[in-house]
Amino acid sequence: MAVLVTGGAGYIGSHVARLLGPSTVIVDDFSAGVETRVSGLAVERIDLSSADAAAKLEVVIREHGITAVVHLAAHKKVGESVERPEFYYLQNVAGFANVLTAMRNTGVDKLVFSSSAATYGMPDVELVKEDTLCQPINPYGETKLIGEWMARDAAVAWGLRHVNLRYFNVAGAGWPELADTEVANLIPIVFAAIKAGEKPKVFGDSYPTADGSCIRDYVHVLDLAKAHLSALEYLDRDDRDHATFNVGSGSGSSVFEVLDAIRRVTGNNFEAEVLPGRVGDPPRLCADTSRIEKLLGWRAESNLEEIVRSAWDAIS
Ligand code: WQD
Repeated sequence: MAVLVTGGAGYIGSHVARLLGPSTVIVDDFSAGVETRVSGLAVERIDLSSADAAAKLEVVIREHGITAVVHLAAHKKVGESVERPEFYYLQNVAGFANVLTAMRNTGVDKLVFSSSAATYGMPDVELVKEDTLCQPINPYGETKLIGEWMARDAAVAWGLRHVNLRYFNVAGAGWPELADTEVANLIPIVFAAIKAGEKPKVFGDSYPTADGSCIRDYVHVLDLAKAHLSALEYLDRDDRDHATFNVGSGSGSSVFEVLDAIRRVTGNNFEAEVLPGRVGDPPRLCADTSRIEKLLGWRAESNLEEIVRSAWDAIS
């Protein structure tokens, strides 16, 4: 089974590709992807939003005998999506439409779609279930929800078999050379700050949580990558009750708890600076993972300390 991974030179995509093995084919525009992450694999440089992207993808699919697609290629900076919504719709929505067109035209009917907890927006629940109302609060989250609708409509129109994986907060490194090189999320941002001898920033300490800081559900990137392989196996089954699955640890960690884990792992007893909270930050966003555990037989294996340690070891 040859699988095509779009965004496969990215942080998450390269972990998925490594687990899938040497027959994996990578499509990436290298706007964020790193070529050395996928050395040894077939790589096609394609901008999925370009007018000829579908035609190029069809050639790749036929040439390599692709039987399934894992679609991760997307831009995912929330703040940037607010400033440049048109760019995000072009890249994340139009790009995905080209992928679906190429799949339909070549008869490839199995898809794992990289979705996000950002589809939920700011749900006021302890644990978020997949049937929690999705009310995204930024264009990035909207593009991911629209992507789920596109896959659903393709399933109705021509029989696409799909799984949407709603990622919670991904961190860590399965292999040091595949570490997250973008400093865009809490753990890498804190690492960069302490390496520069600066105080990490805590965005808000008066939220309605135990210690006042925001709570998120951190999942190891290797566990997340394994969920993609479980999803591909699930697509071979005809009895598929659901298409959408949360991918998280099922437990939450506050920003202060993450900072404490970083102090323990790095041995650096740094101080942090508390700033006002970010607009649009939900106080708590944690996954109910009962559906993925029951139907895909997947659960997260690494805890917060192991996630932090793997990320720190990868850059030390
Ligand atoms: C985590 C927590 C911040 C930086 C992101 C993406 C979302 C999804 C999940 C892909 C928040 C706090 C952060 C800092 C801080 N990814 N923080 N100081 O916002 O939960 O969501 O990851 O689908 O699309 O937006 O992640 O890492 O930005 O923040 O206090 O310097 O850490 O307020 O509570 P977030 P994050």
